[in-house]
Amino acid sequence: MKDILIKGGRVIDPSRNIDAIADLFLSDGKVQALTHLNQTSDAEIIDARGLIVCPGFIDLHTHLRQPGYEYKETIASGTQSAARGGFTTVCCMPNTDPPMDNAALVGYVKHLAAQEGLIRVLPIGTITCGRQGEDLADMAELSHAGVIAFSDDGSYVASAHLVRRAMEYVRSLEVPIIEHCEEPTLSKGGQMNEGAIATRLGLLGIPSAAEEIAAARDIILAELTGAHLHLAHVSTAGTIELIRQAKRRGVTVTAEVTPHHLTMTEEMVLGYNTQAKVNPPLRTPRDTEALVAGLQDGTLDAIATDHAPHTENDKLCEFTAAAFGISGLETALGSLMGLVHNHKLDIGLLISSLTTGPSRILGKNFANLGTLATGANADVVIFDSEAEWTVDAAAFVSKGKNTPLHGAKLKGKVLLTIYNGEIVYRYGGI
Ligand code: DOR
Repeated sequence: MKDILIKGGRVIDPSRNIDAIADLFLSDGKVQALTHLNQTSDAEIIDARGLIVCPGFIDLHTHLRQPGYEYKETIASGTQSAARGGFTTVCCMPNTDPPMDNAALVGYVKHLAAQEGLIRVLPIGTITCGRQGEDLADMAELSHAGVIAFSDDGSYVASAHLVRRAMEYVRSLEVPIIEHCEEPTLSKGGQMNEGAIATRLGLLGIPSAAEEIAAARDIILAELTGAHLHLAHVSTAGTIELIRQAKRRGVTVTAEVTPHHLTMTEEMVLGYNTQAKVNPPLRTPRDTEALVAGLQDGTLDAIATDHAPHTENDKLCEFTAAAFGISGLETALGSLMGLVHNHKLDIGLLISSLTTGPSRILGKNFANLGTLATGANADVVIFDSEAEWTVDAAAFVSKGKNTPLHGAKLKGKVLLTIYNGEIVYRYGGI
């Protein structure tokens, strides 16, 4: 493995409060002190002047679709897509077919990731057998097999009793329960955010209350059990307020928000745009403002993509038949940088939400991720905050070309991704 010397970039490392022009030296798959660099080193030199150099991004919420839906995405294509987006770690959701509810499947995914994955893949196990919401999966077995969290993502675990038991288990396993908050009797049949636009389009709405009731129940259960509850893809102002109050009371709750919920609203659905059909749905400007404010005051801990690749046919159909989801890994940085350019988000906070934030949620076993401290894994992304580009969904390396951003102009582009000291993505001439 060749040494790499990244010269003259603006190094932003929120784990150490660093934002300065500096050189970064990578050797043996680790970040090394510059004093380590000797004259005879044949390190590859990367000229990063004018560019931002930061820890590789960590995505807590990625659908890699394997096994079972290889026509939508595979571990190979999904990790290539992640590398192109600047991610060096993805946590893959277990709503595969079969769902990841046993150790053999976790072993299979880990094996595939080692053989075909371009970056680190951390599997998430199901909370219930088959994601059916009826019996708990063997959580101890899954944990020993290496899952880093439990989730029935895509569905809410409707039984409060089961979630209570799951939380009691994870206390000793020291991993989070990741909840997809959606009270199913309220969201049943819903296609988009409930409100005037849904009425105008004649589509059944999903009210904010469906998310907030679900989140409130699980916050109460986390308070009861002391377990770490992590709320996936928070989308409403009301949920933010619930988390804010819970954190004040000392409840162990963390939460993530997606780039699309931070930057888009329900208006995107006008014209029956199935590319903007996602669950939870895109909400109102008031919600997006509350989400940005939630990041700013620490109510939200991380940004996660909820990369949900689907086929063309899954979206080229009538709205009610279309699949929920957005292919998000390759546009995440560019769309989030829009918030920075519009002075809504500080660049340091954006980077910490993609690095130290998720690393803290993963816990102490992953403290060497999301940082450029000496000895940390050499996971690095270099991006140009000023580069403008037009999104071409057909050019995604993800199999999922489903994005409402096709044709959009974004400002902020990943140029180089390094995973464990190896260059896994390189744009153009850098
Ligand atoms: O839009 C979504 N798509 N939301 C989810 O919760 C699941 C995901 C998927 O798996 O396609």
